[in-house]
Amino acid sequence: MTSVGPIIHLEDVTKAFRRPDRRGDLLAVDRLSFEIHPGEIAAVVGKTGCGKSTMFNLVAGLIEPTSGRVTVVGHDPFREFDFFRGKIGIVFQGDRLMPWRTALDNVLLGLEILHTDRQQAEKIAGDWLTRLGLAGHENDYPHALSGGMRQRVSISRAFAVDPQILLCDEPFSALDEMTARDLREEFIRLVRQNGKTAVFITHSIKEAMQVGDRILVFHRPARIAFEARLKPDAGEERRSEIEQKILAVLGESQ
Ligand SMILES: Nc1ncnc2c1ncn2[C@@H]1O[C@H](COP(=O)(O)OP(=O)(O)OP(=O)(O)O)[C@@H](O)[C@H]1O
Ligand SMILES: [Mg+2]
Repeated sequence: MTSVGPIIHLEDVTKAFRRPDRRGDLLAVDRLSFEIHPGEIAAVVGKTGCGKSTMFNLVAGLIEPTSGRVTVVGHDPFREFDFFRGKIGIVFQGDRLMPWRTALDNVLLGLEILHTDRQQAEKIAGDWLTRLGLAGHENDYPHALSGGMRQRVSISRAFAVDPQILLCDEPFSALDEMTARDLREEFIRLVRQNGKTAVFITHSIKEAMQVGDRILVFHRPARIAFEARLKPDAGEERRSEIEQKILAVLGESQ
């Protein structure tokens, strides 16, 4: 999949939800515009309820904007949902594994949808589980795995279809800090090594700064209140300057 220009493009996107029991709509996303370019890891940070997951669902094609335009590699993710099979890997908040499927079968899911040859698919799925330190757990069911292991299965599942784009919605927020840190580092390494583009949602400023080479700070309803670029080799002074700015901007939001 080649693409000139932005991989993800939101132009003046608004999303309002109906509130059947009350008068008026709830505005979750308010004329939001941004572009994500190939190879970028964009971290989106904002307070709870500011519309991060709504933006995520718009980019993933799970919901349609009320107005404005969402394009991913030049296509409409909602209207051309089938075009995106295998092109977007998603890691949800919590692991969203199927409890009746083994670790291997959970990773196989995306490959089955793509009708990958069974033997080849099992090899790919097994290799990803091994890369994420789960060799020997292929036949375990999710209930027999720890939270960190289940999240590793989710990451394996997202990478197994070799998508160009990875969308992650607070993937590590339920884990202890040490495990989260390991998985975060692993995730960044995999994204960079495989030349992917990623959008990573978090409510942690520290996590956003560790993951993102671009940081987008959202106010509620979702719109960009502040944006910064952060080179991996940025010094302490630059990091602390950005952190202070993000704290100040989030402090102003509701
Ligand atoms: N399907 C829906 N129907 C009605 N309202 C919704 C729907 N989805 C989200 N909302 C509302 O939109 C607003 C933004 O929600 P969203 O889930 O996008 O926030 P968030 O930034 O992801 O929050 P969190 O950090 O808690 O995950 C909230 O007020 C929420 O109640
Ligand atoms: Mg959310």
